[in-house]
Amino acid sequence: MAEITAPRGVRDVLPDESWKWAYVLGQFRGLAESFGFSEVHLPIFEHTELFSRGIGDTTDVVEKEMYTFEDQAGRSLTLRPEATASMVRSYLEHHMASGPQPVKLWCAGPMFRYEKPQKGRYRQFWQLDVEVLGSVNPLVDVEIIGLSLELYRRLGMTNLEVVVNSVGCPVCRPAYREALQSYLRPHLGELCGSCRSRFDRNPLRILDCKKETCKAITEGAPDVMDSLCDECSGHFAAVRRGLDLLGARTHIDKRLVRGLDYYTKTAYEVLSGDLGAQNAVCGGGRYDNLAESIGGPHVPGVGFASGIERIVLTMEQQGCSFGRAPSLDAFVVCVDEAIRDEAVKLLYALRREGLGADMDYQGRSVKTQFKTASQAAFACILGGDEAARGVVAVKEMATGNQEELLFDDAASSIRSRLSR
Ligand code: HAM
Repeated sequence: MAEITAPRGVRDVLPDESWKWAYVLGQFRGLAESFGFSEVHLPIFEHTELFSRGIGDTTDVVEKEMYTFEDQAGRSLTLRPEATASMVRSYLEHHMASGPQPVKLWCAGPMFRYEKPQKGRYRQFWQLDVEVLGSVNPLVDVEIIGLSLELYRRLGMTNLEVVVNSVGCPVCRPAYREALQSYLRPHLGELCGSCRSRFDRNPLRILDCKKETCKAITEGAPDVMDSLCDECSGHFAAVRRGLDLLGARTHIDKRLVRGLDYYTKTAYEVLSGDLGAQNAVCGGGRYDNLAESIGGPHVPGVGFASGIERIVLTMEQQGCSFGRAPSLDAFVVCVDEAIRDEAVKLLYALRREGLGADMDYQGRSVKTQFKTASQAAFACILGGDEAARGVVAVKEMATGNQEELLFDDAASSIRSRLSR
């Protein structure tokens, strides 16, 4: 029978990597909480309509990438491709508008998109996500961008490029859309197949095409900045002023339109110079009409999401520190099988002291046990002789110093040595 492997595009995060994820997640959690954000746990699947209406029917995510299925009762459900629509749904469903505004929330977890897998692009991937709901203040956009940049600074990431743009709003976007279509119409035949199909349905996305021929054509396209209404251009100017206050080095990319339709005004991405083709470590922006598009009242919002896989890849590439790799405080070396019960007692005494402790269960040779113990701070060596005398030989692995401790005192003594 053929061995069952993980489906294409999904991966196991094994112990040699999972501790790095825990470090990144811990840094993100601490930072988000220190900026006044609170955690929410959102469902992994939602009604399909939440995404088709929220993200937009003509986006790649909704058209091609969703994992949609029917449940036993015939409801159409979808594994979340992102968290923003769910966050807004949750805000509305739990009447968060009735409390103090804005509401600042964060979440982290797996997202699912049926994309072509490659380095940094998976079908199940984790996002760190923050959203601020209920404020139109451009300083909130600045806070979002500032939070992502502070996260990367703390993680030690460098070689990043921050690109910002404004995608306008329902007042000014129709005029821009028309101007863009007029510009592109004569070049329609030269555009790639997917850009041709976007021409009527979602022409702004053509600006985002990575194909050289399309890029060359859109190089001369009208600048969205020239079409912004007063409100959008005032908002963008205020966001840029705020970013200057933070000392954030950003540049405007008029091609930045983002792949989700809910954006209004600010759009931004942080690109890593060390990731190759899938170089966005983070993307976000403002989405003032998303709540309405899913049947709620008007609720302005702004947020970002950052892929953990891409953060870890960048950090590994750049040799960033992930803090201390997990290691044991003590390893119990059982020299004589006859006194295994004593060794087990010692192991649990160490664990009750709150120490990280382990032992061998496979009857391995003393030499092999010592090899494992060399990864721990202390080896607790227990043989028949020590057991008979009520002592343990404790070896500090870093220095090689060894001494005998009373069996009953060994655990607390090791703990106090470690806290020194
Ligand atoms: P997004 O640009 O689709 O935006 O995704 C955000 C980030 O998730 C990307 O920059 C990337 O780091 C990561 N990511 C996306 N797709 C994949 C994938 N297939 N494999 C690995 N990593 C991936 C959003 O999802 C919006 N909800 C962001 C947002 C929050 N906007 C406002 N609030």
